[in-house]
Amino acid sequence: MDVEGQIVVIKSVFLSEGTKTMSSILLVTSSPRGAASHSTAVATEFARKLQRANPGSQIVTRDLATQPLPHIDAEYTAGIYTPEEARTAKQQQAVTVSDRAVDELFAADSIVISTAFINFSISSTLKSWIDHIARAGKTFSYGEEGPKGLVTGKKVYLVLASGGVYSAGPASALDHAIPYLKSVLGFLGMTDVEVVRIEGVGMGPEAEAKAIATAQEQTSHLALAA
Ligand SMILES: Cc1cc2nc3c(=O)[nH]c(=O)nc-3n(C[C@H](O)[C@H](O)[C@H](O)COP(=O)(O)O)c2cc1C
Repeated sequence: MDVEGQIVVIKSVFLSEGTKTMSSILLVTSSPRGAASHSTAVATEFARKLQRANPGSQIVTRDLATQPLPHIDAEYTAGIYTPEEARTAKQQQAVTVSDRAVDELFAADSIVISTAFINFSISSTLKSWIDHIARAGKTFSYGEEGPKGLVTGKKVYLVLASGGVYSAGPASALDHAIPYLKSVLGFLGMTDVEVVRIEGVGMGPEAEAKAIATAQEQTSHLALAA
């Protein structure tokens, strides 16, 4: 397996000289349910809607389900605190995975992150991606005024599919996905976050169809507003 993860440009629209700079949409998918995944389907279609609303933009896809990043380990945690010239080959290899994920993040203008709701939280592959993009000195810093997020100016869209309903009601306290994602992304400087929920898909075929339709309608509005 390619441990650096897969980077696929779905589509590039070429610009003639003199037109506005090409913007980039980073699509991060992570559901372990493959072709059955609602979050992957809605998020992928949403990225295309954003692209259509912003002609000339490109979509870069990081599919964490089929090309997961390795869990951070001893090589990585030692490597990030070791000057590049002093790193072992294994440390350098581990840090390079993170460097590439961080570069990809900075290169994006908007970011669509999709996840399945798994055991009250996010897909484990998405957690691993977060562990790679949260880098002291790169994506956040500590100063006299405390921590400062360095990934600014991004528009982030979170697409979450869940069997139950967590946006309101008694189960909302069990949502450890959206509050967590908002916290960690905000810590890194990404505070402009929209949430698209495909929720209640486990509550029967009608509820499932309605959840998908509602999410698709919301993404259409968000794309037009982008
Ligand atoms: C292993 C596993 C754990 C799940 N845990 C929860 C859960 O804690 N709460 C919930 O409401 N749904 C849970 N579900 C249902 C998923 O959230 C639901 O199938 C959703 O559609 C998954 O997103 P996806 O369609 O993008 O794969 C779980 C599903 C799986 C396969």
